[in-house]
Amino acid sequence: MPSTAFRELPGGPGWRERPAGLVTGRGDARVNGAAGALLLVSEELLAAERALSELIQSDVAAVPVVAGHLVAAGGKRLRPALCALSFRALDLPIRHRLLCVGELIHLGSLLHDDVVDASDTRRGRPAAHRWYGSAVAVLSGDFCLARAVLLAAEEGGHRAVTELARAVTEMAEGEVLQLQRAGDLSTTRAAYLEVIDRKSAALIAWCAAAPAWSAGRDDDAEALARFGRGVGAAFQVTDDVLDYAPDTGKPPGQDLRQRKVTLPLLFAMEADPGLRDLLVAGAPSEADVPALVHRVRRTGALDAALDAAREMVADAVDALSILPDNEGRDALIALGRHLVDRVR
Ligand code: IPE
Ligand code: IPE
Ligand code: MG
Ligand code: MG
Repeated sequence: MPSTAFRELPGGPGWRERPAGLVTGRGDARVNGAAGALLLVSEELLAAERALSELIQSDVAAVPVVAGHLVAAGGKRLRPALCALSFRALDLPIRHRLLCVGELIHLGSLLHDDVVDASDTRRGRPAAHRWYGSAVAVLSGDFCLARAVLLAAEEGGHRAVTELARAVTEMAEGEVLQLQRAGDLSTTRAAYLEVIDRKSAALIAWCAAAPAWSAGRDDDAEALARFGRGVGAAFQVTDDVLDYAPDTGKPPGQDLRQRKVTLPLLFAMEADPGLRDLLVAGAPSEADVPALVHRVRRTGALDAALDAAREMVADAVDALSILPDNEGRDALIALGRHLVDRVR
């Protein structure tokens, strides 16, 4: 019955499949160092991509359709790439199925996040909940999360799966915290950093450290997790900057509409206190959003936030000093820097 009912939903859209990956996605043409880094692990990333398509299969027809809607839409595949490069940095053979764990968790979190944020588009397509309905999108998100945990247990062992459960707990807490603080214009920089540390950096840290946990190399895992936390926070700051940029595949000003206090908005309100007063008075009307986005940009807040993100990456890179000085470590550093420099 459920699969029959599902077939009645508007499915099978003729959307063009977009290539996945950091160097092929929208706006990723200027990669240089990161492109070289990813070449080191390109075969394993391809194998992970094939495994990902298999991992979202289910005899409940709606699940692979909804998850596949997001998988085929592209995406940077940052989390598998970081995990693969960590294997290289540790001189360990790459277990390509372990690379899928972070992406599956990410898929589940995106399916949920777009419901929570009432977002219309994701990866240049209509968000899954807009196309298939919130119920099936949320439940397919649950499937992705649980599938990832099973895979982490199979491929990474006890420590890796325990740490994954912690990361997913933090991610949920971060999303709830952000929701609670939306519209609170007195949110501080420390409070913002706490949110992004939990909602985004925790999973990225797991992806960087999982190869070390799976091999029982706890000191290396600690260093890689610190690296992942730092670049993960920098990545989220950059994503928050991109919320004020045109042509990203998402409509600009989404955070502003919901009065989410992100680092660019914090810097903008410091430079232009009238902006804070305006937002304290209430959520902006749809007609006001473009002018407000422009006003934020005019303060120089986006560059200030990107500078802060670069500092986070520099601190994160310091954590890698205990790892062997090899190509894999260089590649991790290049990828970390690219996560901020992708915005120019
Ligand atoms: C979007 O993540 C949400 C954040 C945590 C910033 P990505 O920017 O990695 O999304 P995709 O996978 O490339 O679509
Ligand atoms: C992404 O957060 C979801 C998680 C990190 C769990 P955002 O809401 O900030 O990201 P986008 O802008 O929708 O991709
Ligand atoms: Mg969100
Ligand atoms: Mg969102």
